[in-house]
Amino acid sequence: MRRLKQIALVLGVLFVAIQLVPYGRGHDNPAVVQGPTWDSPETEALARRACFDCHSNETTWPWYSHVAPVSWLVQHDVEDGRKHLNFSRFDQPQKHAHEAGEEVEEGEMPMKIYLVTHPEARLTDAETAALVAGLNKTLGKKKQKGQQAAAGSAPAAAGGGDSDHAHDEGAGHTHD
Ligand code: HEC
Repeated sequence: MRRLKQIALVLGVLFVAIQLVPYGRGHDNPAVVQGPTWDSPETEALARRACFDCHSNETTWPWYSHVAPVSWLVQHDVEDGRKHLNFSRFDQPQKHAHEAGEEVEEGEMPMKIYLVTHPEARLTDAETAALVAGLNKTLGKKKQKGQQAAAGSAPAAAGGGDSDHAHDEGAGHTHD
């Protein structure tokens, strides 16, 4: 019994201590600069429902996203998600945008772990099909390797170099 109390105390202290780790409290929503030109309001609505928490600057940060260690996971997913595709920054090149339809079609996105806490982001088969078609129309469909260079390079100069990620875009696929 004493042993159990000691363990509980240690866990309690640990739990409080990890709340002091600075990572995971950013929770920022930077400015929404420019979205894509949606093919329809339906596509936008579905993307807002299933993708925007991680792939836009309009993230809703739930209460548990403020509590470590969950906060670390959420912060990481949002930072990584925005880095790969940010629906709020279509003023900048979004080189993975044309993969969006395929990611949804293959069931890779939205992330499974996200759906556990966000049942509203679960799409029916019909909604999934509509989102895939809409994303392909809005963002273009994934092309074969050889064709990618031509499709991705044109808007590269528009960003103005204010982004950290602008520099690694040209250097090839260093992140996946
Ligand atoms: C819980 C957060 C989350 C949600 C919700 C989410 N994503 Fe992602 N997404 C990520 C993360 C993190 C990555 C980067 C790591 C990876 O590829 O798994 C990513 C990567 C991507 C990529 C790039 C894939 C690649 O190969 O580089 C695309 C495209 C994408 N997501 C589309 C979507 C679409 C479309 C939706 C909505 C249907 C969506 N995501 C929902 C977190 C999320």
